[in-house]
Amino acid sequence: MHAVFASYAKELGCSYIQDEAGNSYLVNDPSDGYCLIASHLDSVIEGGEYDGAAGVIAGLMCLRWARRDGLRVPLRVGAFRCEESSNFGLCTIGSGLITHESYKENIDSLKGKDGRTIAEVFREKGWSLHPKKISGIGEYLEMHIEQGKVLDETKTEVGIVGTIAGPKRYRMYLNGMADHSGATPMSMRNDALCAAAAIILEVERIGHREAAYNSVATVGVLNNAPNVMNVIPGEVTIGIDMRGIQKESLDRMERDLLRAVKSICQFRRIDCRQEKINDVSPIRMSPETEEGLVKAARELGLSFRRMPSGAGHDAMSFPPLCRTGMVFIPCRAGISHNKLEYTTIPSVADGTAVMYRYLKDRYGTR
Ligand code: GLV
Ligand code: MN
Ligand code: MN
Repeated sequence: MHAVFASYAKELGCSYIQDEAGNSYLVNDPSDGYCLIASHLDSVIEGGEYDGAAGVIAGLMCLRWARRDGLRVPLRVGAFRCEESSNFGLCTIGSGLITHESYKENIDSLKGKDGRTIAEVFREKGWSLHPKKISGIGEYLEMHIEQGKVLDETKTEVGIVGTIAGPKRYRMYLNGMADHSGATPMSMRNDALCAAAAIILEVERIGHREAAYNSVATVGVLNNAPNVMNVIPGEVTIGIDMRGIQKESLDRMERDLLRAVKSICQFRRIDCRQEKINDVSPIRMSPETEEGLVKAARELGLSFRRMPSGAGHDAMSFPPLCRTGMVFIPCRAGISHNKLEYTTIPSVADGTAVMYRYLKDRYGTR
């Protein structure tokens, strides 16, 4: 996909560059103060075709229009790697590395599903987990499918994002005692899977308790070993993903989770090792950019609403560096991270038009 992306360079009169972390860019003018329009080209396992890719295509369209109109701001269009947490459990790795905003300090030892560390994978590809920080950036814009039902159900053409929910994530390694499932009396077991089951339901309860604040909590990973009919489970790993747009609610969820895990594991005599793999506060987009995008949607006569993002995005990495804004477009029935994910070309065009109109209003054309 990055090769396909690069192949647009000639047609768009751009140069193609790759940064040290393997992210790709098309550049129409190498000057500083550029606007970066980007999203990601990786997808979740069993995911759809639009999460990420639609935003990269929006950037390519902006490059084409900028060339036609002589837009007075240098543009870069970016395609990030490894935005999804499907393999390493950590989100926005490509954008997080180059902005130095990645949550994890010691990222090198993160293991993927095949047991290889991210350091091994990066070494093999010739990329660096410690690239130099991106420089010269003036502004960051991203278009993305909403991945929720709000725009689709309210028949609204675009969403202007105010805040992106921050993730708190844990991997928990539960160690009990693998034992004979026939010969071990019920009172003499350390069943790690039963502890995991209690934690999973507690995570769901915590999510429901905080739902009024738009927070959510999910156990999306469960590995059971040895996973054999006649053995009491001895080792279980679970992956917990909690998100929220209110920091207090996120912090409360974390406190409640850790307290519950401690008491469940004590009661069941299970040893629990915890690894925190994400801790990001809710991220505010730049108010001036948000207002500019709202104005652009209005000028174009598109129906719009201001809204938060429950999903994570590469845009989370940029507010400490530069003005940052995000535009959402509807996706069918709000379905995402699923092969049924779908949006329409007119919607992609609407979202792109809002970003481009904003750039024209802000920087002008020749
Ligand atoms: C990214 O798709 C996320 O998990 O929010
Ligand atoms: Mn995604
Ligand atoms: Mn995405």
